Amino acid sequence: MSLHRRLIRILTACAAALLGAGALAQGADADHGKLLYNTWCAGCHGADPRQSQPHLAADNPGVLQDAISLVSQMAFLKTVLSSVDIGDIAAYIGSVATTGVPVLSPTPQTVDFSYQPVGTPSAPQTLLLTNLGSVALNITAITATPADFSVSGNCIGHRNPSSTCALSVVLNASAAGTLTGAVVVTFQESAAPMTVPLLGTGVLAPATPLPIVVEYFNPDLDHYFITADAGEQAFVDTGAVGRWLRTGNAFRAGGAAGVCRFYGNGATNPATGESFGPNSHFFTADPAECDGLKSAYVADAPSWRFEALDFSASQVAGAACAAGTVPVYRAYNNGAARGIDSNHRITTNRTSIAQVAARGWIDEGVAMCVPQ
Ligand code: HEC
Repeated sequence: MSLHRRLIRILTACAAALLGAGALAQGADADHGKLLYNTWCAGCHGADPRQSQPHLAADNPGVLQDAISLVSQMAFLKTVLSSVDIGDIAAYIGSVATTGVPVLSPTPQTVDFSYQPVGTPSAPQTLLLTNLGSVALNITAITATPADFSVSGNCIGHRNPSSTCALSVVLNASAAGTLTGAVVVTFQESAAPMTVPLLGTGVLAPATPLPIVVEYFNPDLDHYFITADAGEQAFVDTGAVGRWLRTGNAFRAGGAAGVCRFYGNGATNPATGESFGPNSHFFTADPAECDGLKSAYVADAPSWRFEALDFSASQVAGAACAAGTVPVYRAYNNGAARGIDSNHRITTNRTSIAQVAARGWIDEGVAMCVPQ
């Protein structure tokens, strides 16, 4: 107990001895006292007089009068409150004061989760509840809102004075953005539950990287080849399927259209002992072209056989690529006219197209669009 409190109590004991038992003013108005308390006292002593630690002994007007005389912070009240007002405030405090005050105190005062990836539960944070009051309290409910926050732990029930129990709070953000919530602890002895603010921000994990389409050149065949399949790239890099060398050209896959990949008819032509061919791949993002080639397949003649949707891209919108995308050009070696296997070069690199065009390939322009 502070020096002030001790002094106040001694003075009050003397006053009570002098005045006798009738220290409470006759006809005091507790409702008016409540209004005055909320206006003049709550700012320093809390909305509920029982929250002040230990509880205000001012259910006696003499104690309050002494406090106003002795506590420097309260001196201003001398000119504000009449003796009738002081009697009313004391009556109000007396009407709410009980034998003791349970006070539930959280540590920390606020639980802050900072940034958390959306959909991934955070590490649990500990929230301690301590009964700082002078009597036991009974916790009846513990909730966390909104549903992104969850609370667990064993604090429900009887909590003795000075005892502490631990809760565990987890944030699992359902969407990107700032979240504010609360752990609300309801206990029987208080009309107002104890509330601990919760803070956190959901952030989106980086998107899965888009596949990279890598270009190869085979100098023995004078053929180009592309693939978005990292496993196939690693295999081609071993040299097991021929002298395929990376050209240094690559682009990112992505878009609404699946790119059809064809390979020449691999069945053996009995007349030559070789496959029908062509020994080359062809790629198109145009569904009409894809369907046309699929139906033009002939089992015992040179033709294109559909393999798979190799990667995704978007179709050319009119003559240009939509905002945020870049053109992929296609050049043709004019194999049909030259009596050699058809082959195409497919790249975002305009200079590479110009190089093969300079040696007789046909510049077919923009074949598809891919992310910038
Ligand atoms: C500006 C802040 C402030 C305001 C406003 C205030 N008090 Fe105080 N009060 C204090 C301080 C500081 C103490 C001294 C606490 C200590 O010594 O531990 C105190 C002590 C007291 C005490 C004596 C200690 C006790 O626990 O019994 C009483 C009674 C009291 N105040 C009642 C009131 C009432 C009733 C009001 C409103 C009419 C009020 N106070 C307004 C700050 C304030």
